[in-house]
Amino acid sequence: MDTPVTSQQKYIDEFNAKEYLQTYYGARDGILCGEWTVFVLKNLHETFIKGGVRGRTLLDFGTGPSIYHLLSACEVFDEIIVSDLLEQNRAEFQKWLQKDPDAFDWTHIIKCVCDLEGNGEDCNKKEEKLRSKVREFLICDALKRNPFDPVVVSPVDCLLCCLCLEAPCKDMKSYCEVLKNFKDLIKPGGHLLILSGLNATFYHVGENRFSTLTSNKEDLEAAFKEAGYQIEKAVYAPRVDKSGMEVANFQGKYFIHARKQK
Ligand SMILES: C[S@@+](CC[C@H](N)C(=O)[O-])C[C@H]1O[C@@H](n2cnc3c(N)ncnc32)[C@H](O)[C@@H]1O
Repeated sequence: MDTPVTSQQKYIDEFNAKEYLQTYYGARDGILCGEWTVFVLKNLHETFIKGGVRGRTLLDFGTGPSIYHLLSACEVFDEIIVSDLLEQNRAEFQKWLQKDPDAFDWTHIIKCVCDLEGNGEDCNKKEEKLRSKVREFLICDALKRNPFDPVVVSPVDCLLCCLCLEAPCKDMKSYCEVLKNFKDLIKPGGHLLILSGLNATFYHVGENRFSTLTSNKEDLEAAFKEAGYQIEKAVYAPRVDKSGMEVANFQGKYFIHARKQK
């Protein structure tokens, strides 16, 4: 079934941050808690901890209410700026930042990252370290020439983006435009890391269905090249666990590490 492109107004009105976290990252049956999370955590661990991508500032674009993808980054960046289109995601993220009793419990995922880093005992320290590195949560819109308008963000060492651009972009042309606009947010020689689902058409949050751009390896690599980046590394993997296909129908996952020219 075709999913009409989801409007921004639908995101504003119907994206429930709490329900999103429970559905996708819940400890017992979160749909993304298995192979997706492992894919992201492993690739980011290799990039940040072993791969030497580091610096002063990391900008995470389209953070949503999530923190899992920032858990390795906080070891190698002095500060992290997080961002999203939605106020309800900022509010949910703030709950975690302020240790609100109603905040989502990320312990099971923090433990995975601590295990990868070989300090399995230090989950609390890890969470505190990430909290201490978050500088601010900005509202952004990927489809604007300056996504942070009217705020001007100084170019950063690394821009990270997980499961985001397939939401607002209606086609690969629009995805490529966003990549071009991102160049103003990245220092010369800086890094762009994008991780997302392949060949998807929708995902659900509760009863609400949200469209996603259907991306594939060839189109993605063409878009990065057309936008003027150098691809350093690209990883593609099929979806193995097909349970939950009716909730989110991505067929695979990708990680692209690209660099802005010096
Ligand atoms: C599937 S969620 C991913 C959230 C988080 N990055 C993660 O990995 O769990 C998609 C995110 O894209 C955001 N989004 C949708 N349209 C956007 C836009 N035009 N600009 C920026 N973010 C947008 C949504 O608010 C939502 O947080």
